Amino acid sequence: MKRIGVLTSGGDAPGMNAAIRAVVRTAIYHGFEVMGVERGYHGLLDNMMFPMNSRSVSEILQRGGTILKTARCEAFNSEEGIQRAVEVIKSRGIDSMVIIGGDGSFRGARDLDDAGIPTIAIPGTIDNDLGYTDLTIGFDTAITTVMESVSKLRDTSSSHERMFVVEVMGRNCGDIALFAGIISGAEEVIVPEMPFSVKEVAERVNIGVDGGKSHYIILVAEGAVDPYAFTEELEELTKINTRLAVIGHLQRGGSPTATDRLLATRMGARAVEELRIGNSGVAIGLKGNVLTTKSIDEALAVRDRLSMELYRLAEILAR
Ligand code: F6P
Repeated sequence: MKRIGVLTSGGDAPGMNAAIRAVVRTAIYHGFEVMGVERGYHGLLDNMMFPMNSRSVSEILQRGGTILKTARCEAFNSEEGIQRAVEVIKSRGIDSMVIIGGDGSFRGARDLDDAGIPTIAIPGTIDNDLGYTDLTIGFDTAITTVMESVSKLRDTSSSHERMFVVEVMGRNCGDIALFAGIISGAEEVIVPEMPFSVKEVAERVNIGVDGGKSHYIILVAEGAVDPYAFTEELEELTKINTRLAVIGHLQRGGSPTATDRLLATRMGARAVEELRIGNSGVAIGLKGNVLTTKSIDEALAVRDRLSMELYRLAEILAR
């Protein structure tokens, strides 16, 4: 009998619950047992876990967040931390792990696998900053939330003839800003991957204002610039009244979109299938519409690149 441990780690992402559900139900289907580990890697160090069955994951497909709780765990990032985790895993009769999280969580998954615990990693982060996969779980819901927020800001922006600078998350990755910028019709998208000049942005805005444009939406990725300083400078350099809206953690919550539910469900099930056939140390990804596997090390080594096609499209459509 195999006993699989599952945990979520790092920033939560809508769809993590759908992935947990798929792991649990696929494992049970194949006759395995599942232990839910709480609070990410903390749960491995502090022995916080509980047996899960089909009913443990009822009614969670549509819920944002993660029923297993999540955390970032510094204590795990040391030789002693990993050894302690391995001891706890073995003492609970667990023989393999599924880790759902972002790049920090992936490093932990790789370390566990190296320490002899067969481990599979599933990409769960709103940032979409893992280059080996087209999509990470939670990204689609996050950009949908940004899109809906920008629609609301457009109402007030056009009524008051104002410009809105909208800051979005993404750490050092501009994907949330870029994708959400395109689907929201933003006039400018500022991302960490591409150089920009506030003066040039201001010039473009002023040309637009002179041509009769009365409201603007500028999407700024958190990793690109301090949004407060940016907004202040932009207001000084332009002829239009400006406000800043920081969407913040709102974009981490909410019921996952259809795309995220499907992605998470497919990836969760695939993780169990990989363990079943004796694979480990791999990350599940998506390329085109096909699920892929890559060693976690290789997955971490693929540099995330901003899509130039989409960046150019954003520029063209904003004029
Ligand atoms: O990685 C997800 C993320 O939401 C990033 O976009 C953001 O930079 C960070 O987490 C925020 O972290 P915290 O929730 O700890 O403030």
